[in-house]
Amino acid sequence: MLSLHLWRWLRRGSTRRPPGPIAWPVVGNAAQMGNAPHLYFERLERKYGSVFQIKLGCRSVVVLNGDSIKQALVKQGRDFAGRPDFPSFRVVGNGDSIAFNTSSDWWKTHRKMAQSAVRMFSTGNLQTKKSFERHILCEIKELLEVFVRETGAQKYFQPLTYLVVSTANVMSAVCFGRRYLYDDEEFQQVVGRNDQFTQTVGAGSVVDVMPWLQGFPNPIKTMSDNFRRLNLEFSDFIRGKVAEHRASFRSSTIRDLTDGVIAALEHLSDKTGQVFHKDYVSPAVGDVFGASQDTLSTALQWIILIMVRYPEVQARLQREVDRVVTRSRLPSIEDQAELPYVMAFIHEVMRYTSFVPLTIPHSTTTDTSIMGYTVPKDTVIFINQWSVNHDPAMWSTPELFDPDRFLDQDGALNKDAASNVAIFSLGKRRCIGEDLSKLHLFLFTSLISHQCHITVDPSRPPKLDYNYGLTLKPWAYYIAVSLRDDMTLLEAATRELH
Ligand code: HEM
Repeated sequence: MLSLHLWRWLRRGSTRRPPGPIAWPVVGNAAQMGNAPHLYFERLERKYGSVFQIKLGCRSVVVLNGDSIKQALVKQGRDFAGRPDFPSFRVVGNGDSIAFNTSSDWWKTHRKMAQSAVRMFSTGNLQTKKSFERHILCEIKELLEVFVRETGAQKYFQPLTYLVVSTANVMSAVCFGRRYLYDDEEFQQVVGRNDQFTQTVGAGSVVDVMPWLQGFPNPIKTMSDNFRRLNLEFSDFIRGKVAEHRASFRSSTIRDLTDGVIAALEHLSDKTGQVFHKDYVSPAVGDVFGASQDTLSTALQWIILIMVRYPEVQARLQREVDRVVTRSRLPSIEDQAELPYVMAFIHEVMRYTSFVPLTIPHSTTTDTSIMGYTVPKDTVIFINQWSVNHDPAMWSTPELFDPDRFLDQDGALNKDAASNVAIFSLGKRRCIGEDLSKLHLFLFTSLISHQCHITVDPSRPPKLDYNYGLTLKPWAYYIAVSLRDDMTLLEAATRELH
């Protein structure tokens, strides 16, 4: 009798579901999330602990915060590496996106291939890093020319579109071996899709949790129809680039990432004897080009916003680059170790803004448990990176912007603190563009600080507010840009490249 009770008690203990708020019929907790789900989750974490459960529509969603994130994504990585079967995920890359497909042998192989193609054209070795640096130099020169022109014409202007096109151009050089003019309509249309994309695939998007809303005309259906259309246009653009590449492809000269992916997939089919009936090159290239644009351009928007919001920080960045690099040459990759304040600034921008507050939603690949709670197979999992970056137990006064928290007593970058920033996720789904992004942000910040001075329109002081989506986008702000010297160094550096 006693053993029966014990068995029942143990069994009940082992099927304990995560706690959570009471859900409304039909919509669940969707309305409570408001326009900042990560902050709602932060409040729930205080009440229920690091693992809790909400309902979105009729789906149960387990939200992981703080310590439970590392436990799930690293220690139990395989169990938490899936992606939910959301309708919007099936639209990206015509259903063949690496980022939006659940884990499988196919996903693993293609992810690995895309990751080595990214490395081959960015951070693989010093030679590839230098070639990536050259793309950035060209774009910074163009960007500064436009900034100065806009300042002359309007005094204060919004930098958003230029930052988006500039980022897209760096990645276009990596992926397709070419850049576009700022007023190229086709390119602007393709890269101008960021806002809609990020709102639709961001964790908590109603498009995915209440698919029945698609059955009749309403704003969500319009959003979903637009999402489908912009994905089709984007896929067409990428397919066109891939077709051009195939037409002039020579395996002896791999010109860019698209050539690299074509070669890798052919090699893969030779090696495995498997014939690919579908075009997997386009979705892979589309993933790299697409995933990089929205995230990196949002990072650049925050970097500039914070530089003008905290002029003393901008002045300190300028002092550091001037001291280490001097005014007689441009900052370069080799200077990174000598510019700890620049690196501390970048990490503090990533921590403070947490501009990717939740990762792309995950799902469980098997029945599992986390922190003593049972989680069945195919449960949707939200990973709240924001909670790690704003945990008062980890960061003193987390609500303050303070790059010094990343410097040790000798003024060197504290690598442990830097590695605690949660923005590229962890484990099997960790971002494949992390190294490229960090290099991009370093070069952008050090070159901008070295070459220009940015001020803000005093009649429209910038706010640090944002719109929620997969990325947090700052509200529009207005800046003026003046050069610190003439452009001789940038002109000379980029002339050598042509
Ligand atoms: C500052 C810039 C960036 C940030 C903050 C960022 C962040 C992230 C995050 C949070 C995820 C989701 C991870 C998860 O679901 O657990 C992700 C996935 C991904 N990122 Fe990035 N990313 C950035 C730039 C890039 C770049 C430049 C590339 C391409 C070179 C890229 C390619 C990808 C891909 C392909 C995935 C999907 C990985 C998978 O599902 O297996 N990202 N990124």
